[in-house]
Amino acid sequence: MINVLFVCLGNICRSPMAEGVFRDLLKKENLSSKVNVDSAATSSWHIGSPPHKGTLAILKKYNISAQGLVGRQLTKEDFETFDYIIGMDESNVQNIYLITGKPKHPKIIRLLDLTQHNKDVPDPYYTGDFEETYQLVSEGCQALLEKIRHEQNLR
Ligand code: 4NP
Repeated sequence: MINVLFVCLGNICRSPMAEGVFRDLLKKENLSSKVNVDSAATSSWHIGSPPHKGTLAILKKYNISAQGLVGRQLTKEDFETFDYIIGMDESNVQNIYLITGKPKHPKIIRLLDLTQHNKDVPDPYYTGDFEETYQLVSEGCQALLEKIRHEQNLR
């Protein structure tokens, strides 16, 4: 099993969105039995919380299940469990380095560095624009799947 973890600040807007989008992609590509997906926060603010209503609305709009999306905090142990640890922005990546104690490790990646954009995923908690975030998350998830297919010899 290949284990993928999406990480953001609160685990209620961007990383649960990415978890839902990536799981949906895996299902469509018949890869659900080979890749496991989860998400986590660098903060402790929303442990046990469901996704933000804006994230739930955008997932619903695109017919993507929000089942099982619950806030939790990243732990040091997650570094051993997960093969790909994907931050939504540069501050997330820096905080993942601090929590895991593994600065610059290649399994820790900023999502949009896998695309042509090379930028942070904007935080809709502040921008209010869940559609813009969805489009970028979706693009990043496609790129991540291609990377994993290539590196893990999945077809
Ligand atoms: P997220 O967005 O990191 O994409 O889940 C946020 C969620 C909550 C807060 C900030 C950002 N907050 O300040 O509670």
